[in-house]
Amino acid sequence: MTRVVITHGGAGAGKEYSDGTQRAAEKGMEVLRNGGNALDAVVEAIVVLEDDERFNAGTGSYAKLNGEIEMDAALMDSRMQAGGVAAIKRVKNPIRVARCVMETPHVLLVGDGAVEFARMKGFPDYDPMTEKARKRLAEVKEKLKTGDLPPWAEKWKKFVYPGLTGTVGAVAMDETGYYAAGSSTGGTSIMLPGRVGDSPQIGSGLYAGKHGAVTTTGIGEEIIKRVLCKSVYDKIARGMAPQKACEWGVSLFPNEISVGIIAVSKKGVGVASNRDMAHWVIAEE
Ligand code: GLY
Repeated sequence: MTRVVITHGGAGAGKEYSDGTQRAAEKGMEVLRNGGNALDAVVEAIVVLEDDERFNAGTGSYAKLNGEIEMDAALMDSRMQAGGVAAIKRVKNPIRVARCVMETPHVLLVGDGAVEFARMKGFPDYDPMTEKARKRLAEVKEKLKTGDLPPWAEKWKKFVYPGLTGTVGAVAMDETGYYAAGSSTGGTSIMLPGRVGDSPQIGSGLYAGKHGAVTTTGIGEEIIKRVLCKSVYDKIARGMAPQKACEWGVSLFPNEISVGIIAVSKKGVGVASNRDMAHWVIAEE
């Protein structure tokens, strides 16, 4: 393989969404073919997903219980560069802001500071709210009221209504062997204001190094506790094929916790999930 782009639309986003992940992967591959590097490819692939309101990232992000949308996004590459935003509001493409954070001395900017930074960088005010997000929030509030939540959701009953997670992500390798990983999300479906999941956290929601790139989707609280992407990356670094490493990562979770992982290394590609997960792989020899 010389060039690879893999995209996903979230654990729980079924195959009916794979046209979106295909368009995103094709955009990423077009960037690589035109001389862009793996990081450029990941950013442009994720922008396609953030702009597709069927996915829970950018436009189409889920709202928090106060009705506001706070988004998380991050990038990492195999040169140990990383940048992310968490709980950022009113921008169209959080992944582009994450790319700008990568150029600063910091790794993660949150909340008002992240919004202020975005404006300073010229990102205009944008409302990512959709009818779908409004409807979903109303449904979630109703379920919270009635207690009609799945059995494992004990803390809200246990904080997260499963099957609705839909983070997006991409990994890429270019012909120089440079890797990048990225993720972007509106979070999960039941969230307090200020809640941040795995997606902008290096090691949990994404990781890249000289051996490959990994990103994940699913219930962020559970992914964080398993430092999932670094754990999968470490397996790849020790020689495991990405497919096996992704399957191993998914096996760390009980089935009621939705999770999905994509990865690339010189040894190939990996895609695994315990839910339907719209994704797309383009690999050139
Ligand atoms: N994996 C997305 C989130 O939990 O925020």
